[in-house]
Amino acid sequence: MSAPMIAPSILSADFARLADEAKAVEGADWLHVDVMDAHFVPNLTLGLPIVESLLKATDIPLDCHLMIDDPARWAPPYAEAGAHNVTFHAEASDDPVAVARDIRAAGAKAGLSIKPGTPIEPYLEILKQFDTLLVMSVEPGFGGQSFIAEVLSKARAVRKLVDSGELKLLVEIDGGINDDTVEAAAEAGVDCFVAGSAVYGASDPAAAVRALRSKAAR
Ligand code: DX5
Ligand code: ZN
Repeated sequence: MSAPMIAPSILSADFARLADEAKAVEGADWLHVDVMDAHFVPNLTLGLPIVESLLKATDIPLDCHLMIDDPARWAPPYAEAGAHNVTFHAEASDDPVAVARDIRAAGAKAGLSIKPGTPIEPYLEILKQFDTLLVMSVEPGFGGQSFIAEVLSKARAVRKLVDSGELKLLVEIDGGINDDTVEAAAEAGVDCFVAGSAVYGASDPAAAVRALRSKAAR
């Protein structure tokens, strides 16, 4: 496995100072951007114009997590804009493979996300078409929730397939990652750790990123 990656989530940042908040986590591997539409999840955050502005404000690759309905329509523009990863929810799509193809054709990596209650088995076959699997370890919609450890079995199952060479993708986890939970996720074979409140709630966000990365190293 490669070195653990940390993706601070700007959901917990100060939205009026996003350029500064991106600078505050320099050294992070990705900057995680939660796009919510108040339909797929009961919250509304930000969309393409803010992503376009962020792309100009930071060199950290943007990891866009779309918690929205109709990703076939809305996901490709994030890739065209220059996002590094565009991840959408399996539960929101009738044809995830087609959406992944469009994201890749537009120049980004394609990610599939599943909610805590969604099993992984039905999606194992199509994961070949993805660059990232984002396992949600809280119900999507809000930062600052408690980690749901049961989802780690999904990370473990996919890690096995990656290690055996059947799949080639990064396993990412999102929700409730902090000093107390990051090691269990690392032990389950996670490559990339999203952390919102644990990073932006810290007095030194860049130091929090480094601390999580060293705890995640196995
Ligand atoms: C929740 C978002 C997460 C959120 C994580 O729906 O997808 O990215 O920012 O926040 P923490 O790390 O505070 O659980
Ligand atoms: Zn997220």
